[in-house]
Amino acid sequence: MLDRKKSGDVLSSYKGKFTIATICSHSSLQIFNGARREGIKTIGICKRENRKLYESFPLARPDEFLIVDDYKDIPVPELVARSAIVVPHGSFVEYVGEKYDDLEVPIYGNRASISWERSRDKMFEWMRKAGIRTPKIMKPEEISGPALVKFPGAKGGRGYTIVSSYEEFKRRVGERKCMIQEFLIGVRAYPHFFFSPISQIGYQTSHGRLELLGVDKRVESSADEIARAVSAGLTPRLSFTVIGNEPMVLRESLLTDYMDIGRRISDISFLLFGGMIGPFCIETIITEDLEIYAFELSARIVAGTNMYPLGSPYSAYYYKEPMSTGRRIARELKNAAKKKRLKEIVY
Ligand SMILES: Nc1ncnc2c1ncn2[C@@H]1O[C@H](COP(=O)(O)OP(=O)(O)O)[C@@H](O)[C@H]1O
Ligand SMILES: [Mg+2]
Repeated sequence: MLDRKKSGDVLSSYKGKFTIATICSHSSLQIFNGARREGIKTIGICKRENRKLYESFPLARPDEFLIVDDYKDIPVPELVARSAIVVPHGSFVEYVGEKYDDLEVPIYGNRASISWERSRDKMFEWMRKAGIRTPKIMKPEEISGPALVKFPGAKGGRGYTIVSSYEEFKRRVGERKCMIQEFLIGVRAYPHFFFSPISQIGYQTSHGRLELLGVDKRVESSADEIARAVSAGLTPRLSFTVIGNEPMVLRESLLTDYMDIGRRISDISFLLFGGMIGPFCIETIITEDLEIYAFELSARIVAGTNMYPLGSPYSAYYYKEPMSTGRRIARELKNAAKKKRLKEIVY
């Protein structure tokens, strides 16, 4: 992992002025639009073939494009020359892979948090230490009834398998490395949190304030439309390829629990690796007994926030102006720069 001092030195060389850069994918339109609303210039790292699309949005296109052949080759010197702070999103960390840890350009947030989201074992350690409910993790011999088999590095739920017995596991999975989880039944909800160590508004935590900027529900194929296939007499396998997101509001009495979950995840992150900064999402399932189970954690902006470029039913209670997560990031960087505290939120 890049030395914190090195990143700090590059940041110091910007002398308080900065631009926002990210890869043109995932939630970049929202990030660029949010920065634009806060008066910050943006840089889009883009493949030639995608430029046309990103240019076509007058209010969300980046101010400048840096064209690359492969996202693994982030143009670091060009970014530093433009005083760029990188805002990482799901595709950014996915495409750049382990090279992410050593990028010699300042990154918004604590770059250590991504190594905790990257490994499913570490992620579960994090969630368990936070003391939040997680699905039961099983050994193959313990399978009795539907269990979800998750393989390392699976993207968008692709390639997950459901097995119902040890026999079926041996036959269909064999020796492959995987994590076996109890299959939870309930309603999924994906809350979008934003942690700030410098803000004065939001839900108090041990190290700062937590805002809930929105909630979404992912739409997954085939799982979310499977009733049609079943009623047509088919017996398709459940799969979880993310297709998009739908807005969601939670029953208000659940907010107490959700903010407590967010607080616990945030507080423990300071003990584990010095603290997660900025946006994060906890993927949850709520059972009929109103028990909330967390099955995944994203330590950065999630694509579900794309629904709310004009703010959400929750952001409206914190901000008079439309506040997306993308804009909130830009606002945070601006506020921190004003207070000369950028180094606390950029690494
Ligand atoms: N324990 C579980 N029980 C039931 N459904 C689950 C469970 N874990 C995940 N899912 C479903 O599978 C999808 C993908 O799982 P997830 O662990 O989030 O993988 P990915 O890394 O692909 O996002 C989830 O969005 C959810 O619909
Ligand atoms: Mg997930």
